[in-house]
Parts: sequence; C-alpha cells; structure tokens
Amino acid sequence: MAGPRTFYVTTPIYYVNDLPHIGHTYTTVVADALARFHRLAGDDVYFLTGTDEHGQKIERAAKARGISPKELADEVVENYRKLWPALAISNDDFIRTTEERHRRGVEALFARIRERTPDAIYKGKYVGWYCTGCESFYPENQVVDGKCPEQGHPVERVEEESWFFRLSAFADRLLELYDSHPEFVLPETRRNEVRSFVAGGLRDLSISRSRSKVSWGLPFPGDPDHVVYVWFDALTNYVSALGFGDPEGAPLYEKYWREAPDATVLHLVGKDILRFHAVYWPAFLMAAGLPLPTTIFGHGWWLRDESKMSKTRGNVARPGPLLEDFGADALRWFLLREIPLGHDGNYSDEAVLDRTNSDLANNIGNLFSRVVALVAKGEKGTVPAVEPLYDDELGEATREVRERYRAGFESCDPAAALRALTDHADALNRYLVRQEPWRRKGREEHCSRVLRTVVGELAHLALRLHPAMPGAAATFWQALGLGEDPATEIAAGKDLLAVDDWAVGGNSVQGPLKVFPRLDKKKVLGEAIAADGGGGRDAAAGRPAKPGKEAGAKKKADAAPDEDEGAGIITIDEFFRVKLRTAKVLKAEPHPNADKLLRLEIDLGDEKRQLVAGIAKAYRPEDLVGRTIVVVANLKPAKLRGLVSEGMLLAATGPDGVPHLLMPDGDVPPGSPVS
Ligand code: MSP
Repeated sequence: MAGPRTFYVTTPIYYVNDLPHIGHTYTTVVADALARFHRLAGDDVYFLTGTDEHGQKIERAAKARGISPKELADEVVENYRKLWPALAISNDDFIRTTEERHRRGVEALFARIRERTPDAIYKGKYVGWYCTGCESFYPENQVVDGKCPEQGHPVERVEEESWFFRLSAFADRLLELYDSHPEFVLPETRRNEVRSFVAGGLRDLSISRSRSKVSWGLPFPGDPDHVVYVWFDALTNYVSALGFGDPEGAPLYEKYWREAPDATVLHLVGKDILRFHAVYWPAFLMAAGLPLPTTIFGHGWWLRDESKMSKTRGNVARPGPLLEDFGADALRWFLLREIPLGHDGNYSDEAVLDRTNSDLANNIGNLFSRVVALVAKGEKGTVPAVEPLYDDELGEATREVRERYRAGFESCDPAAALRALTDHADALNRYLVRQEPWRRKGREEHCSRVLRTVVGELAHLALRLHPAMPGAAATFWQALGLGEDPATEIAAGKDLLAVDDWAVGGNSVQGPLKVFPRLDKKKVLGEAIAADGGGGRDAAAGRPAKPGKEAGAKKKADAAPDEDEGAGIITIDEFFRVKLRTAKVLKAEPHPNADKLLRLEIDLGDEKRQLVAGIAKAYRPEDLVGRTIVVVANLKPAKLRGLVSEGMLLAATGPDGVPHLLMPDGDVPPGSPVS
C-alpha cells in the first residue's frame, strides 16, 4: 500500500485510583509532541491515550470511598478528560477499559491465542505473592520483608486456582526479537535489563484472578469463576481501541497495527512498567500470531529531591497549579527539554521557572518580538519581498539545526530536538549582531535583505515549535503573517519540515509581541520560597518570617510612630495587638499541592480552624496530632497553594533552617492566651 507512513503512538492507560500527576502529564506530553512532529513530517498519525479501570487496586480504592468501582472511574476519568485539552493534547482517541469495544477486543485476543497456539493458555494453581500497587504477581524469592521488589509496596499471599499463559515457551523468541530488532526496547540500557530478565528464565504468567478474591474485572472467557488479570486486560487496549475484535471490521486496526518499514507503532511507558510491555505484550501477540509493535520506549521518572514522589509523603507535583503558574506551553517545554527521555530528573517549580526564563523569555520569545519590532519600525510592518542574504555562518547553522531537530524527534529524543531550536535562535541572534539591520542609513537594501532572511528563518522556527508548544507556535505564525496556525498546513503525505523557504516576503507582521514575559521568582514562587524560610509570604505560611525586607516594611506601616521604631523596638501595646493562643492539633496531612506545606486542623478552644504551615520537611503529620502548639490567632487569613490558612503557628528556626515548634511546658487547654 503506497501512501504516507503510519505512526501510531500510545501512552500507558492510567489507573483511575489517583488524580493525574506530573508523571502522567509527562508521558502524555511526550507522546503528543511526537505525534505532532510526525504530523508535521507528513506521516499519517494516530495517537491514543486512556484509562485503566479494572483490577484490585481500583476495587479497593472505590471501597475505601464507599462507592462502586465504576462510579470511581467515572469521576476520575473526568479529570483526565479536562486536563488533556488544557495541555493541548491532540489525542485521536481516549479508551476506557470499561467500554464495550474493549471487552470485545480482549475476548477476540483470547480467542485468537487459543486458535493459533492452543496450549498457550491452561489452568493451574497460583501460589505466591500479589502486589496490588503494581497489580503484579511475584514469586517467593523476589519478595523481601513482605515488600514487592519494584516499588516496595506491601504484597499479599495468594493461593488460588488460576489460568496461566505459557510465557516460558516464548523466551527464545523474545531474545531473538531483542537481538534482531534492537529498536524494540529503548533506550539501550533498558533493553539490556529486559534481555537479562528474559535470559534469566521466564515463569508462566498467571492471567486470571479468582472472582471470589477480585470481582472488578472482565469475565475470563470460558470461565465465569475468574476475571481477566488486569495487565492482560490493560495491554489489549492498544488494539481494542483500533477496533480489534469488532465484528463489523476494524479499518483503523488494519491501517495502524502493522510492522515496519512503512508503519511505526510506538508504546511510550515509564520504566516501571517496561516488563509488562516488552515481555508479556509481545509474547501475547506472538501467541496470537499478530504483528508486534516497533518500539517500547521506557522513560525515566520525575523525582522530588532525588526521591520518589508519593501521596503519603505529600510531595506529588500536580499539573493543575503548574498550568496556572506557567501555562501549557511553558510546562510542556520544560517537561520535554529538561531531561533526555529515558533519564530520571528532579522536579521543582523553580526549575520550570528558570527554564521558562532562559529558553522562552530571554531567548525564543525575545527574538520573535525583537524581529517583529524591527520589521514594524524599519519596514513599516511589511516583510520586504527581496532576496534573502545568508552569510556562511548562518547558512551552516540553519542546515545543522534542522537536521538535529529532525533526528532528535525521530530517535525519541525531544530534548535534543528542542535544544536545536534554542541553538537556532542563538544563531539568529548572532546573525543580527553581525548584520546590524537597525543601522539603516545608507544600507537600506542590506537591512531589508537581512530582515527578510530572519523572518524566513523564524517561520522555520515557529513551525518547529509546534510539537512542543502548539499555542506559542500559532501566535508566532500569526505574528509573521503566515496564517492562523502551522497546524492548518498539516496534511498526510506533505512533509512541512522539507519546505526550504516559507515565502514570507510581502507578509504583514503583527506586533508588538509579548508571548513569554520574564517571570519574577518571588511573584510566581512566593509561597514555595516562603516554605523555604526565605521571608516573603512566610508569615501566611504559618510560621514566623525571618526578618526580611518585607516583614520590616509591613511592621512599619502598621505600627504607631515611635522614637524607638528605627531600632525595631515596639511598645507592650503593640505586642498585645498580636493575639497568641495555644491550640491543639486535631488533624495533620500533606498539602495536596506543595511538598513543603502541611495542612493542619486545630482546636482554638472556642473554634476550629485550618492552618497551612511550612513545616513538612521537619515534621511528619502523624507526629503532630494531639500536640499543643502556639499560634497567632488574629492574622488575616491567606491562601497558600489553594488552601486558606487561618492563622500562623510559631516555631524557632534552628541554625540549619529547620523549624522547631514552640510548645507550652505542661498541660494548658486550647485557646489559652500566650504572652
Ligand atoms: N495502568 C498502568 C498502565 C497500563 S498500560 C497498558 C499504570 N498506570 S499508572 O497510572 O500507575 O502509571 C502510568 C504511568 O505513569 C507509568 O508509565 C508510570 O511510569 C508513569 N509515572 C508515574 N509516576 C511517575 C513519575 N514520577 N515520573 C514519570 N512517570 C511516572 O501503570
């Protein structure tokens, strides 16, 4: 079949026991950027994401909430459905494993395996361990201290009748696959891990759970006493979403689920779920005699302070507040650019801000607005229709960055592709400095040609920004008078990256442009800085501010004039304006949106209040409950990362910057005055 190459890219389907976090956001943004890149390159793209809704984990999470698993799924899936458009995710489909089409696909895959490899599925007894966190079976020798080897989740003993998949029979074929198709598992280090895992010997895999233990799953075909193991169920989404098993026919499946050379199927997954994708999934497909995906790419993890994000530690970064602070384009750029795909990286709001300022505000954004202003001023807003003027350095740089950009995306290295774009902007800035198009006197023609050249190059740049920052790319595209959006130029079979010259001569530019203003650290990250003890909004964060400029200035405004004021002396009356009270901590938990903050519920004697305090690094929530602390009871409430703090607790800051709470010596009831 002649025609454009097909490119089918998928994200993992996300469990619905948790709200979307930065990890889910990451994979989905990377998949989206790859999808958008391949659309620019003229490929026929299909991009799938969705949710994984069956299994013990969801069943238990729903039970804990007192709702049905389906109710939980319906509720959580809405968060994904709202988040993806806010992040400009261009998925073609969204699959939920509770959909009918998915059940059909799973049944069809079973039928096909039984038909092609009749002895692949058999009944036996599973004796070993099960980790609900990973939804994974672990044999005796892999469990250490009752914890799973992958994530350290608690495991449970399972002894039940089970259906098995004869995975052991596929070890040789899998090894041959890894050796003959090195691109099957990427990056290479992960391939080596997967290879050694398989070379170490494969046990047959349990692919059912007894309905008496887990009831939230698809009925096991042919045996109503069992439900399908959730990973068999989940992996099948990649074909069920394409219509596999649809009795009416499955044109999408026929079109996209094919093997190289003219088709690519890329599964993007986190490194923790690589084994399911790179070992089990190809074995199921081999048993069914179906085409295999081209590549399983195992990306790295975002960490906080070098350690795992976890709900219990309360240090999970959620996309909502980040979108508010930085916007979709800057957040996407950060996720794609900050670390090479495959590596782990440390997440911090500050890193997002720094990256935004250095790459987008100072470099790319500044270049576009500068050039638009130069054309507006020197050429009355119309790009001169003259011959471009490339000097050797720019000619060479342009060719080189375009190649690097394409190679970066084609080899699943978006960070390298994006670096080529900032290098492109650097090269254009240097060209401007060399050619000085602002020195017009007596060199008008030269200046016109230089500006024509730069605008032409900016068209290439705007187009290439589209996969990472579709919003900004459209704004730049419009500003250069090229149309609404580079996406409107996209058509299967047309390689926009091969366009040599965007004929910009005669276009009217639209300015002034201010797409990425420089972000002020204090304004954007005020709360985070506060929680570090750096003054600013510290007081509102629930603990005393270090003496800083702002704290001093505030005092001055509030206090009555006094001759000692300059020395920082206050009167006793001034001191008593601050109402200090004892309070009992009733409840303490991590702040949902900030890793340095805790949310406390306190008893002030005659009322209960909520406090938000920057003490998460020093105190575990469970150690605070029942303690009596001292709070400022008449502080104006302030909102901290979305939660209102109705007061401030007192703590002494040790030399290491760690807060130590003030607590009364002896029993005093909540609400007692402190002076
Ligand atoms: N439901 C399974 C996937 C089934 S695919 C057939 C699942 N879901 S998940 O919601 O727990 O995780 C989805 C993805 O998020 C995984 O790829 C995982 O690696 C990724 N991440 C979870 N935390 C992460 C970070 N902190 N950083 C980067 N990605 C991480 O697993």
